[in-house]
Amino acid sequence: MKMKKQNHKDFNSQTSIHYANVSTSYNESFFTEDGSDYQRWQLDRVLHHLRLQPTDQAIDLGCGTGVFTSALYTKAGLTKNILAVEPSQSMLNLAQTLPGIAMHCSDAQSFVQDRTIRYNKILMNGVIHHIPPADLPELYSGIYRQLHQGGILLTVTRPEIVHYPFFQAALEQWLKQTRAHTVDILAKYMEETGFSVSYQTYYYPVQIAKNKWLEMIRNRFWSTFSYFNDEELEAGITKLTTKYAQTDVLKFEEALIFIEAVKN
Ligand SMILES: C[S@@+](CC[C@H](N)C(=O)[O-])C[C@H]1O[C@@H](n2cnc3c(N)ncnc32)[C@H](O)[C@@H]1O
Repeated sequence: MKMKKQNHKDFNSQTSIHYANVSTSYNESFFTEDGSDYQRWQLDRVLHHLRLQPTDQAIDLGCGTGVFTSALYTKAGLTKNILAVEPSQSMLNLAQTLPGIAMHCSDAQSFVQDRTIRYNKILMNGVIHHIPPADLPELYSGIYRQLHQGGILLTVTRPEIVHYPFFQAALEQWLKQTRAHTVDILAKYMEETGFSVSYQTYYYPVQIAKNKWLEMIRNRFWSTFSYFNDEELEAGITKLTTKYAQTDVLKFEEALIFIEAVKN
C-alpha cells in the first residue's frame, strides 16, 4: 500500500516528547510485553471484535512500537501486512524488524485526510485519549470515508475511573485525560458520522511484582506520568512504597472497553 508523506501538526509536543523519552522502555511494561497472558487475552478480544479474516487489509492507527500489531498479524494469519500508522518516529523505529508490518509515520488526523487509501479493518488501541475532542468529528468522518462498506473501526480504551495502584495525583491526572473521551462521548460522535456502534467492557485480574510496577511508573509507562517532574514522581512512588509496604505482589483489576463501530 503506497502512502503520501504527511505532516505531524496534530501530534502535540508534550505527547511527542513523552513517547520519544519512553520508547526504549515501552516494551517492558506489563501491558505491552510480547507473548504474555495479558497480550493473548487482549488479542483474542481484538480478533473477536474486528472479525479479522486472512485477506483483510488492516490498519493499526497509533501503533506505538508495533508489538501488538505484529502479534495480531500472526494470530489472525493475515496475508497482507498491517499498515502501522504512528506519529512518533522513536516508537516506530522499534517496529522495523517485526513481521507483518508496513510502517507509516503520521498522526491520525493527517492520515484520515488521505482520499485514496481503502481498507476494511482499523484498530485504535489505547490512542483515542490523545486525540483532542474537537478533532473527533473529522477523524471519524475520515475513517468512515476510507473504510469499505461493512468495515469495522475498533477502539480499545479504558474507563475514566480506574483501580490501578497509582498515587492520588496520578489518579486525578488520569481522570483529566480521559473524561472528554468517555464511551458515551465517543459513541455519540461515531453514530453522528453514520457508524452502528456497540461496546463491551472486559476485566483482567492483574498480579504484578510491586517492584516491577514501581519501576514502570518510574519509566512513565503511560502518558499520565509525563505530567509529573522527577521529584513529583519520586514523591508519588514513595507514597505507594509506604502504602504497599506489607506486600511484594500487587493485585488489581484491569478494565478494557471495546467499542465496535461498523460502516453499514
Ligand atoms: C499508549 S500508546 C499505545 C500504542 C499501541 N497502540 C499499543 O497498544 O501498544 C499511544 C500511542 O498513540 C500515539 N499517538 C499520540 N497522539 C497520536 C495522534 N494524534 N495520532 C495517532 N497516534 C497518536 C503515541 O505516539 C503512542 O504511540
